[in-house]
This record gives sequence, structure tokens and C-alpha cells, in this order.
Amino acid sequence: MNDPETLISEKDIGTRVDELAAEISSDYADKGELVLIGVLKGAFIFLADLSRKLTIPRLIEFIAISSYQHGSMPSGAVRLVMDVRASIEGRHVLIVEDIVDTGHTLHYLIDMLESRGPASIRTCALLRKEHKTEVDIEVDYLGFKIGDEWVVGYGLDFAERDRTLPYIGVIQPDDPD
Ligand code: PRP
Repeated sequence: MNDPETLISEKDIGTRVDELAAEISSDYADKGELVLIGVLKGAFIFLADLSRKLTIPRLIEFIAISSYQHGSMPSGAVRLVMDVRASIEGRHVLIVEDIVDTGHTLHYLIDMLESRGPASIRTCALLRKEHKTEVDIEVDYLGFKIGDEWVVGYGLDFAERDRTLPYIGVIQPDDPD
């Protein structure tokens, strides 16, 4: 099995994570503790790296959702699988995603978390497939725009494989080997 072709190198990811962390730290300076909500599973590595580079007080939370793949649910319908533990009422929240594709996941999460009365909600994603957007969603802190490739590594998987690659690679879904 060949390693996936490199799309974004480990070094370039590290540089961009440092830049995003500096920007977020500056924007949230003197605003109290920032609640970082990582969306499982894909965001676990990005969240780990980003959170350790922040210079502001922060709290780590995770949330898990699942897309409906079958049945009568409309395309893009998602459901909550695991909730955050902390109350976010009156607190500043940053949702951390590995990738925004159609935008349905982020749209669902923002709607759901907004109803809990946070002081603010912003979004941070390492990757965005811009031309795939179905829901008009703003990503406040974005690492890289990418094309319609199937990407793996740095948290992202193909059928649960390749999540721990240190770089973002591209595979052909019809021929993942
Ligand atoms: C991926 C990714 C986002 C979502 C984005 O998760 O981590 O959460 O899809 O897609 P959307 O913008 O089209 O809604 P996935 O369902 O692959 O789960 P995983 O993170 O556990 O791999």
C-alpha cells in the first residue's frame, strides 16, 4: 500500500496552526476563558495542536454528531451522538472542525449551541471544500481552502484509516490502496 500523495505537508500545517493560534489568542485576549469544542472524530489532532499553541485561558470540550446515511431523512440531516459536558451559557465558544464540506454539520452545531445562550460562537476549521458548500456558513478561522479531493491524515480518515498520518494526503476513494 502506497502512502497517500501529499497535499499539505506537516511543516505547512504546523506553520498555519501557529498563525491561527496567534490570531485567536489576540482576538480573545481579556475575554476570559474560551471554550474550544472539537467535533469528533476528525478534529482531535487539530484541536490538540491548536489548543496547545493558544496563549489565552481555554477549556477543552468535545462533541460528536452523526450524519443520516439512509432512510427518509433529508440530505444533510445530522443528529447529536455525544454532547459537551460544560454549560456554555454566557461563555465564548469556538467550534473546531477538521473540514467543512457541505456545511451541514457546522450549521447544525451553531444552531444547537446558539440556543444555549453563549456569549459568542465562532468557528475554526483546518480545511474547507469551498465549491461543495450547500449551506451558507462562515468559517471565522480557516487553515486552507482545498478542492474536491478526498483527503486523509491529521485526523481525517478514509473508512477509519490514515487518521494519524502527520500530513494531509489525497487518495482516490475508488482505489484507496
Ligand atoms: C466530517 C468532518 C466534519 C463533517 C463535515 O466528519 O469531520 O465533521 O464531515 O462535513 P459537512 O460539512 O458536509 O457536514 P465525518 O462525518 O467524516 O466524521 P469523523 O470526523 O468522525 O471522521
